[in-house]
Amino acid sequence: MKRALIIGANGTIGKALHDLMQHTYEVHTLSQTSTDYSEESLQKKVAQLRQQGEFHTIICCIGTLHNQTVAPEKRLKQLEYDKLAEYFRVNTILPALCLKHCSTLLSKHDRSQFTFLSAMVGSIGDNQLGGWYGYRSSKAALNMMVKTASIEMARTHKKTALAVIHPGTTQGPLSKPFASNVDKARYYTPDESAKRILAVTQALTPAQSGSFFNWDGSVLPW
Ligand SMILES: NC(=O)c1ccc[n+]([C@@H]2O[C@H](COP(=O)([O-])OP(=O)(O)OC[C@H]3O[C@@H](n4cnc5c(N)ncnc54)[C@H](OP(=O)(O)O)[C@@H]3O)[C@@H](O)[C@H]2O)c1
Repeated sequence: MKRALIIGANGTIGKALHDLMQHTYEVHTLSQTSTDYSEESLQKKVAQLRQQGEFHTIICCIGTLHNQTVAPEKRLKQLEYDKLAEYFRVNTILPALCLKHCSTLLSKHDRSQFTFLSAMVGSIGDNQLGGWYGYRSSKAALNMMVKTASIEMARTHKKTALAVIHPGTTQGPLSKPFASNVDKARYYTPDESAKRILAVTQALTPAQSGSFFNWDGSVLPW
């Protein structure tokens, strides 16, 4: 059985991916209950996971839109140092450290994929509405981290593909405060989103590494 790692596995989409993938993969997880995402803790976790063998699929679901510290900003005057730092810490820096440490688990011999849940609003080219400065910018920075790593890893991991995926607006605590603005037909269950994220991840080829995908597999503008 192929081995998969889900990072941020206790979140809405992380849990749905776990439930879906456990039938076809040997699934391992990382979450705040098992690591504080310090480099020391990640190193320890990765060493434990490596003892059990190499991984074929890793999906990072870490992200925040609102929490005790942050809420999406509507205007420039709402920007604050600590809040922007929190957006970048959770949406860019923690996934980047997971990329640094967990990519060493990927198989070099078989096809492997490492995907990250980003967001359509992190697209600079598609930004029509403005607002949500911290979330948009921290997801755009995540996109750049993954794109840059894809270029480096292409030299050492010829069968690996990295990508960022917009999961589609998915029912759960992250999207709930904004649910009234979402078209019901485009407000997906965690199970629907998990199936699409897994399909996009599994279809990835090394030639597509470093791309930004929508949940239906179409390519999004940076
Ligand atoms: N839901 C949507 O409509 C939507 C739309 C576009 C993009 N996305 C993106 O998709 C991903 C998953 O979304 P979701 O709806 O499943 O969100 P969620 O239910 O809020 O789960 C996000 C998970 O990220 C991890 N996380 C959050 N804050 C953290 C922190 N301070 N430190 C460490 N880990 C932290 C947690 O994982 P653990 O509990 O396992 O520690 C949390 O459960 C996110 O990256 C989000 O930005 C979601």
